[in-house]
Amino acid sequence: MKILVTGGAGFIGGNFVHYLIDRHPEDEVICVDCLTYAGNMDTLADVADNARFSFHKIDITDEKAIDALFSSVKPDIVVNFAAESHVDRSIENPGAFLKTNILGVQVLMDACRKYGVGRYHQVSTDEVYGDLPLDRPDLMFTEETPLHTSSPYSASKASADLLVSAYFRTYGLPVTISRCSNNYGPYHFPEKLIPLMIINALHDKPLPVYGKGENVRDWLYVEDHCSAIDLIIRNGKPGEVYNVGGHNEKKNIDIVKTIVRKLGKSEDLITYVKDRAGHDLRYAINPEKIHRELGWLPATSFEVGIEKTIRWYLDNKAWWEKIISGEYRDYYKKMYENR
Ligand code: NAD
Ligand code: TYD
Repeated sequence: MKILVTGGAGFIGGNFVHYLIDRHPEDEVICVDCLTYAGNMDTLADVADNARFSFHKIDITDEKAIDALFSSVKPDIVVNFAAESHVDRSIENPGAFLKTNILGVQVLMDACRKYGVGRYHQVSTDEVYGDLPLDRPDLMFTEETPLHTSSPYSASKASADLLVSAYFRTYGLPVTISRCSNNYGPYHFPEKLIPLMIINALHDKPLPVYGKGENVRDWLYVEDHCSAIDLIIRNGKPGEVYNVGGHNEKKNIDIVKTIVRKLGKSEDLITYVKDRAGHDLRYAINPEKIHRELGWLPATSFEVGIEKTIRWYLDNKAWWEKIISGEYRDYYKKMYENR
């Protein structure tokens, strides 16, 4: 099968490209990415010369370029990871989020309709459900939980989900949507909590925890997200939404303390800083549907996943040193200096 993966030079898309190349020798992977600050060809270095892999530097909002690619490649399946993905950046600059995360989805789905693509899969997020209270551990997001967003990022992802469902109902486009909890693992861009804390701790730099560090996220090792999407695109039912998560809720402060301990650093590095505007309190996914209908279960516990992740950042310094020595320095200064 020809699988077109957008956003394949990013964190989860890159892991998904590796996953497909390693586990599906019968498949061809066509990667589309416009290489924003978050896109990185080094992430794809291992597969770059593989005969079953090709890369196309295209913006998903560029209708003409997307049309030309679909016309020449004729993909069987499209999996859309391409997005602006960082909540803090969406608070600074919402426009880029609306363009890529909503209009880009329209452009991709119109191409799917025109060229009769067999499946359009939208990689969405649990953030479309908004947040849950900290004092109600019994509550979790199901696929029926109403969309109720907090940040420009989550609002753009929820808008895309509505558009995807509309294309199913109106045009009969065979779509599926997955809504996953927070991912962690190799190739995670240093602006996000886990890699940021690992890299700062390695440099004995302050570890900036927003607010009191009481916010809860539900963490899933990235390979488990890839296995879920792989199952959905092959066996999932068109028109359906699947929540993906591994019942692994942790307070931010506990994540940071785990990283500090595993790296043998001092908790004195932890610095409480001004909270994020509109900061969601708690995310928690109920993944019963994907387990019941598709037999999916996560394979990696948090204890194993965080070890593997820290080891990866220790073994792959060249990958992230290149990033933090570039424009990321200005971003870090803007977001954290005087915070
Ligand atoms: P990322 O920021 O690491 O990667 C995004 C990739 O998309 C980059 O390679 C970037 O260059 C590319 N891109 C951005 N705009 C583009 C455009 N207009 N055209 C083509 N390419 C473009 O993001 P990620 O963390 O890998 O997230 C991937 C997807 O998964 C996103 O849709 C995100 O909403 C979703 N998601 C992420 C998480 C998480 O924890 N990171 C959890 C659930 C869902
Ligand atoms: P993040 O990795 O940005 O993912 P998301 O906002 O999509 O959940 O942040 C995870 C949590 O960590 C979130 O509650 C915000 C918090 N956080 C910090 O406390 N300090 C930081 O420097 C960052 C980047 C995040």
